Amino acid sequence: MDGNGRWAKARGLERTAGHREGTETARKIVREARSIGIRHLTLYTFSSENWARPKQEVGFLFELLVSFLKDELPSLMEQNIRLLVLGDIGALPLPARTALQHAMKKTAGNTAMTLNLALNYSGRGEIVRAVRAIMESGIAAKDITEQSISDYLYTSGQPDPDLMIRTSGELRLSNFLLYQHAYSEFHFTQTYWPDFSVDEFRSALTAYANRERRFGKTGDQIKA
Ligand code: IPE
Ligand code: MG
Repeated sequence: MDGNGRWAKARGLERTAGHREGTETARKIVREARSIGIRHLTLYTFSSENWARPKQEVGFLFELLVSFLKDELPSLMEQNIRLLVLGDIGALPLPARTALQHAMKKTAGNTAMTLNLALNYSGRGEIVRAVRAIMESGIAAKDITEQSISDYLYTSGQPDPDLMIRTSGELRLSNFLLYQHAYSEFHFTQTYWPDFSVDEFRSALTAYANRERRFGKTGDQIKA
């Protein structure tokens, strides 16, 4: 979800106004994903690298998260959406941690869609964490498989993403789900996140649906 700051700047507003507007987009896209029947949606909300931002902006983002969770919890329940966090929540400000733990506990039994919030998330950090846990499990080196690594990631038990959308014209992955994105399709758009609409989301999904995913095979093999 990129481009909140530039969206605000283009309007002569504070960056925080862009973040606020961005939560409205998140609300709409979650609702749309759920109603289309998408089973897993991940929002890259705050990377481990985002701590380097001005303290005031970081503080604002977590306040916004707390109010988002408070406002959205009834709607997550009503939509039968389970909330999960990808990332180390131990380092988050206490009110954010408490609100997340409450929301995760409340929604744990929901089954229609999993909404992952990547928070204090780093793709490389996630792999390091998995390797440590694998070592500690005592498994023999020869028994480690691609699947066993998947099983130790934050996304354990979830399918790899089909489609990754990045807004705001940046053409980077920025440490996002490095292991999981091996065969994902990518969609890049110039639109700043606060302007990203349900219509654009739908057209990204339609474009995705018309692509041929080969997973290393030839086009003829896929058709056969
Ligand atoms: C995305 O918007 C929100 C977060 C990373 C929390 P940005 O804040 O990165 O907006 P730009 O990139 O400065 O426009
Ligand atoms: Mg940005």
